[in-house]
Amino acid sequence: MLSGKNILIGISGGIAAYKICELIRMFKRENANVRVICTPNALNFVTKLTLQNLSRNEVGIEEFEIPDFKPEHISYADEADIMIIAPATANTIGKIANGICDNLLTSVVSAFKKTVLIAPAMNCNMWQNEIIQENIQKLRKYGYEIIEPETGFLACGYQGVGRLCGLEKIFDRAVDILNAEKKLAGKKIVITAGGTIEDIDPVRYISNYSSGKMGIALADTAFNQGADVVLISTVDVERGYRVVKVKSALDMQKAVEAEFVNSDCVIMAAAVADYRPKNISARKMKKTSDDSISIELVKNPDILQKICAEKTVQTIVGFCAESENLIENAKEKIQKKGCDFLVANDISRKDIGFSSDYNEVTIFDKNGNMLKIDRSDKYKIAERIFEVIYGQRADNTNNRELCAAESR
Ligand code: CTP
Repeated sequence: MLSGKNILIGISGGIAAYKICELIRMFKRENANVRVICTPNALNFVTKLTLQNLSRNEVGIEEFEIPDFKPEHISYADEADIMIIAPATANTIGKIANGICDNLLTSVVSAFKKTVLIAPAMNCNMWQNEIIQENIQKLRKYGYEIIEPETGFLACGYQGVGRLCGLEKIFDRAVDILNAEKKLAGKKIVITAGGTIEDIDPVRYISNYSSGKMGIALADTAFNQGADVVLISTVDVERGYRVVKVKSALDMQKAVEAEFVNSDCVIMAAAVADYRPKNISARKMKKTSDDSISIELVKNPDILQKICAEKTVQTIVGFCAESENLIENAKEKIQKKGCDFLVANDISRKDIGFSSDYNEVTIFDKNGNMLKIDRSDKYKIAERIFEVIYGQRADNTNNRELCAAESR
């Protein structure tokens, strides 16, 4: 699966360093060439000899060993197709976020131009430290991809978030990135994410449970595949692509219309509120002696329907959340909205959808054809959505992947 790929693994000094021995083996089993760099402290947890034997390559530690005339940190950076830093300690994260290059690992990462995956592992209180979180956000903003630590029993005896994520997660993400061709290069893709927030007064609002995860997964995937991505989001996102932060449906409409004209594709993954309060009270509304109150709501514009009516060359994809009669409602909705594809999910299920990292969707086209995508990680779902809308399957069958609903 990874023949000819060069993986550079940077190990910093945390107890999870021992787990990276197995990660090296996972890559070697797939025929990748693996090179390892350690910070000096990492060698307190794992030996150079072990890493050397597993990777079958010299392990880099000192910065100023220059075997040929090329500075070592530059040759490491030039040679690799991806760099993985695992475990990434708070110290190493802090140095990278602040451009400090005081050992081979931090020097290489600063010269590295391709994808860097960072898998932090540390004590839960350290992970929650605001300075460390700020460093993480900064790294995200500059395009580093963070594979978040998991919750569990930590080596220090604490229970909480901080444990190195599962090795499969690091391995699968690296494989996806290495095998992702830049299939969407040259395309401008606009994606909306999150639930809109409709103010009632300065302290209250109407919204919904959308976490924005599906929209963000679509944006990350399109970006990794070379697209020029604009994410219009109600949730804060720091990434290497452009993010337009919005709040209400009206804000979102303005942002979508500004980006839509010269785009190739718009994906409306956001949960847009259908109604907003007619008047937003400038002051906090006081409790009255009445047992009930009414807030008058007015309809928000249907952004999807509107851009579908104005579209020229754009491919437009809607999402729909249904709690019953998914197929009938989706087929009716795609006709009503006029979009090219509609991705429907069943929100009555607790194991997928809102807030979950997983989803199970059915993609419809406007001819009534459909394709069910079984429950999987939102990133896998995002890849499949692009495959379907851009017909990227190996045999280039395009939308023949979608079958007539009746034949299912
Ligand atoms: N949508 C939109 N503007 C709105 C409401 C929805 O652009 N005012 C978009 C959503 O982003 C989504 C699609 O329309 O891509 C379908 O949203 P959904 O809430 O399922 O459909 P509604 O038209 O709101 O119908 P209903 O809530 O009655 O099912």
